[in-house]
Amino acid sequence: MRKILVTGASGQVGSELKKLSVSRKEDFLFVSRDMLDITHAGNVRKFLEKHPVEAIINCAAYTAVDDAEDNPERAAQVNSEAVEIFAGICKEKQLKMVHISTDYVFDGQKNSPYFEEDPAAPLGIYGKTKWEGEEAMRRINPPRSVIIRTSWVYAPGGNNFVRTMLKLGKEKDVVKVVDDQVGTPTRAGDLAAAILEILPGLDNKEVRTYHYTNEGVCSWFDFAKAVMEYGKLPCKVIPVPSSEYPTKAKRPKFSVLSKQAFKRDFKMDIPYWRDSLREYLEEMGVNN
Ligand SMILES: NC(=O)c1ccc[n+]([C@@H]2O[C@H](COP(=O)([O-])OP(=O)(O)OC[C@H]3O[C@@H](n4cnc5c(N)ncnc54)[C@H](OP(=O)(O)O)[C@@H]3O)[C@@H](O)[C@H]2O)c1
Repeated sequence: MRKILVTGASGQVGSELKKLSVSRKEDFLFVSRDMLDITHAGNVRKFLEKHPVEAIINCAAYTAVDDAEDNPERAAQVNSEAVEIFAGICKEKQLKMVHISTDYVFDGQKNSPYFEEDPAAPLGIYGKTKWEGEEAMRRINPPRSVIIRTSWVYAPGGNNFVRTMLKLGKEKDVVKVVDDQVGTPTRAGDLAAAILEILPGLDNKEVRTYHYTNEGVCSWFDFAKAVMEYGKLPCKVIPVPSSEYPTKAKRPKFSVLSKQAFKRDFKMDIPYWRDSLREYLEEMGVNN
């Protein structure tokens, strides 16, 4: 593959792709918002005329779930309209496209893992705009393209739950964490590696949707306890209901995603969330 454009390059998944790119044979072009604002259709077109690529991995998104409630237009521009722009360009120029979406397209009313074809019913603006982005991609239908839904992503430098828990674990003796929202954490490095693994072989005619998270199931409370345990932090974690921790945006109570389709089509093992978290904290030097 000649060249791969990665948007959102300073975000969690974008940064992990960048790390992995050094040992890959493909050429990469990493762009953060200051280099390419993906909401400006004209700029995106001009940029791609000047820098021809064969594939686009769209990691850029408006990811501030609560802020999105107050900024629905901005969230829509980044999460829906920009995806439509990319999908149109990819179809026209026959570029492969990997777009990342979210478990928040679901309302969390199921009590078994969500399949790709389960009906979406987002509870907030973030999930709604991400769903509209997915729908634009399916409508335009660039061949050899995929939507990958993920959840509870963490990476070094990102604003994520692991980072917050490590900080609180060092500062406090006790933290309260909700135990009635259940899902699966995803190490951004695992997702980035999976994307690079599947990209060269994409040969589908219709856009396909897949789920990729780490394996397993946990609540935010379980996740916090694991961070404290593997990070060797003596902080006690107390389970509380979501009603004690109100947030602007509603979140699904259950958003475990089935990865059957991904494993079947790409013949890939997916790491268990506890193993990935332990390894991540080790690599970060947190539990030494
Ligand atoms: N984080 C999660 O827990 C989670 C869960 C499920 C799905 N996802 C999805 O996974 C993907 C990657 O998430 P992530 O955690 O890596 O997100 P992230 O760390 O928030 O990174 C997103 C990046 O997008 C950039 N961006 C925002 N608006 C832009 C614009 N108009 N033009 C160009 N770049 C823009 C941001 O730049 P600035 O820093 O300059 O704003 C940021 O670097 C996203 O599609 C997200 O919806 C994430």
